[in-house]
Amino acid sequence: MEIGLHACKGATLMRPRAKSAATLALVVVLGLLALAFAIAHDSAPAPAPALPAGAVPMTAVVHRRYGSPDVVKLEQLAKPTPKDDELLIRVRAAAINPLDWHYMRGTPYVVRLIAGLGRPKPDRIQLGVDFAGTVEAVGKRVTQFKVGDELFGTADGSLADYTVSTEVGLALKPSNMTFEQAAAVPIAALTALQGLRDVGHLQPGQQVLINGASGGVGTFAVQLAKSLGAEVTGVCSTRNLELVRSIGADHVIDYNRSDYTRGAARYDLIFDTVGNHGLLASVRVLTPRGTLVIAGTQSNDPWLGPLARPLRARLISPFVKQRLVTFLADTNRTTDVNLLRGLLQDGKLKPVIDREYSLSQAPEAIRYLEAGHARGKVVIRVD
Ligand SMILES: NC(=O)c1ccc[n+]([C@@H]2O[C@H](COP(=O)([O-])OP(=O)(O)OC[C@H]3O[C@@H](n4cnc5c(N)ncnc54)[C@H](OP(=O)(O)O)[C@@H]3O)[C@@H](O)[C@H]2O)c1
Repeated sequence: MEIGLHACKGATLMRPRAKSAATLALVVVLGLLALAFAIAHDSAPAPAPALPAGAVPMTAVVHRRYGSPDVVKLEQLAKPTPKDDELLIRVRAAAINPLDWHYMRGTPYVVRLIAGLGRPKPDRIQLGVDFAGTVEAVGKRVTQFKVGDELFGTADGSLADYTVSTEVGLALKPSNMTFEQAAAVPIAALTALQGLRDVGHLQPGQQVLINGASGGVGTFAVQLAKSLGAEVTGVCSTRNLELVRSIGADHVIDYNRSDYTRGAARYDLIFDTVGNHGLLASVRVLTPRGTLVIAGTQSNDPWLGPLARPLRARLISPFVKQRLVTFLADTNRTTDVNLLRGLLQDGKLKPVIDREYSLSQAPEAIRYLEAGHARGKVVIRVD
């Protein structure tokens, strides 16, 4: 009887608690659903506002909503005015990177926390980051460059007649290169350099495998790994074997014919721009103290997309001796841009350009890159 009484009292005491826990859980679930809806929702584009009175028009590649390359248009925007610490650059060429189509689609959705929920914020409608061009005006606090200098580097909204940037992350264009060649370099080459040298700690004489050796990042990674003194294996498809050999790979693996994660060779470093093999399969072909650098993945999942593999790597890391690391390239490192400039000027590094498009063909260029089979870089001429 007593037991029954206690049980009965306990049940009466628990009920309000259980009720509030259930209410809280419901609020959390509804909150998460609302957040998920807000993040994943695509709003209709806001109409383009008229140019301010007196503004000088320029042509720019914009997207006023998220979606496929069909949302990308050419529009007349106001030519920007540089602030005191900025340069006004007349863009002569730009390059497309996967970053551009991530912003175009607003995926993975986390991108929208920066670029805008529903549709891109008015100051995030322009596309393009890599550029090469000529300085047209300088703010009064600019010290390193002057009007007429030919530069290359990164600046937001580089797919346009003009862009503005601070001096950070810019360098003089190597005199032996065209604007198109110089524009092909910044993001892809910085990713390869920093991934191999700073994240992968690549040492002379080490064995490095570059997965995705024929892509924008991969073609720089093969050349930079060679110049860091490594023995390089490039993984690519049959049609790109000769290209990857020609830029310095000591060995090539045709991914259509063999799977490097099942081979007998062991690598001190795998620099992976594709992410098409399981993490443990990659670990299997690393030396006992080897490193897997996750530079990119093919995942198009809009929620986690390229973040899923690095997250899995974090979970696995404590259980393996090898290092599994990921990183984001730092495009503001002026010393690295100048290091690349030196290599380009000396002919020790050469951009591989697959296709060139005009500014009005930017949607086609993005569509081509997004298909995932570019051979080197996709460049836009801005005439
Ligand atoms: N971490 C960072 O800071 C950073 C910076 C820039 C880029 N990324 C990421 O790095 C990745 C690569 O960028 P990217 O500019 O080099 O892209 P990309 O130019 O589009 O690379 C495409 C290349 O991948 C190759 N590829 C496709 N499937 C392959 C496979 N199964 N095995 C080997 N190669 C394969 C293609 O060769 P085939 O035509 O022969 O298939 C093509 O050459 C992207 O995910 C990008 O988001 C990361």
